[in-house]
Amino acid sequence: MDLVLYDPGLGYYSRRGDEAGFREVGRSGDFFTSVSVGETFGFLLAQRIVHEWEGRYKRPSPFVIVEQGGHDGRLARDIVAALRESGSPLAGNFEYRLVEPRPALREFLERSFSLDPVEEIRIAPSLEEARAEVGLFVCNELLDAFPVDLITFESGRWRELRVAWDGPTGRPAWSPDELRPELAAFAADLGTNYPEGYRTEVCLAVDSWMAEAATLFKQGLWWIIDYGHERDDYYPPERRDGTLRCYHAHRSGNDPFAFPGEQDLTADVDFTRVEEAALRLGLARRRFTDQHHFLIEAAKPWLLSLEGQAPGPATAKRLRQFQTLTHPSMMGQQFKILELERFNA
Ligand SMILES: C[S@@+](CC[C@H](N)C(=O)[O-])C[C@H]1O[C@@H](n2cnc3c(N)ncnc32)[C@H](O)[C@@H]1O
Repeated sequence: MDLVLYDPGLGYYSRRGDEAGFREVGRSGDFFTSVSVGETFGFLLAQRIVHEWEGRYKRPSPFVIVEQGGHDGRLARDIVAALRESGSPLAGNFEYRLVEPRPALREFLERSFSLDPVEEIRIAPSLEEARAEVGLFVCNELLDAFPVDLITFESGRWRELRVAWDGPTGRPAWSPDELRPELAAFAADLGTNYPEGYRTEVCLAVDSWMAEAATLFKQGLWWIIDYGHERDDYYPPERRDGTLRCYHAHRSGNDPFAFPGEQDLTADVDFTRVEEAALRLGLARRRFTDQHHFLIEAAKPWLLSLEGQAPGPATAKRLRQFQTLTHPSMMGQQFKILELERFNA
């Protein structure tokens, strides 16, 4: 999965999509994200960032916003524009660090920001190099793009599904094998109350990622936004095929060996695993909620400011995007946010 998504020459995210070098996300790409809906997502996150900076965090300066998985930098541009517009003194007091560890993708980003620079944004090659005393971390759909390992329940025990080459068909195929120790520990926790042929996945990379992400700030907030579930909802026996899926031209598929390097592969996030890793590293859970509740709360001052006014075209557009982002049958319920914190009162 790592190869088909990130191989520097052939991986889905490393291959040239549009002219700037990025895979297009949105209408002309393979899938939509909250960022690709329009600038409203960044606008609302910015409202909430101002609220935190002015309230609980008592206006620290400088304040550092770190984003990872920012793809072409669109969310970064939207948040910075909204902070400048907000009228808050935060506007002159923050830096935005976009973390991109893969050289090929960093090169795309650097080119894009040299063509259209934004003073507050700089690109960091690692989380370590984005560290700051106090700040806020945000990622949208980063963890669902991490490679996962597959396991299956056969004849009363768990096995790992590895990828092998199938000579007769000339294609890759699943090949069951003994569990590696990290997977055995995970499978032991799941237990054995599963139907024959049950298949699921686990993202071990979350642990090492969190070990780095948790050291970003001495004090701060971490917003992890993605589709996914807490563990009890992720691994019920009824979810027989797990959540690994593929996206190609806005069609969802279930053959990860099709169109190698030309389709996105993704799996839901096990938010319990993320939280457990974070708690081991000294972060605290502030809340776990869905995008509907999070963005409606963030939007309250803006919505109140509109009361009694007929919306002009720009506001009407923002309201339409707001509905897409928050309506439970659109993006409001599927997307969740885990808010973690290290706060020294
Ligand atoms: C599903 S896309 C989401 C893009 C964007 N955040 C959005 O919401 O539109 C996942 C992104 O995560 C990036 N990514 C995956 N692993 C990463 C890592 N370790 N560090 C930084 N970015 C990563 C991919 O290159 C890709 O741009």
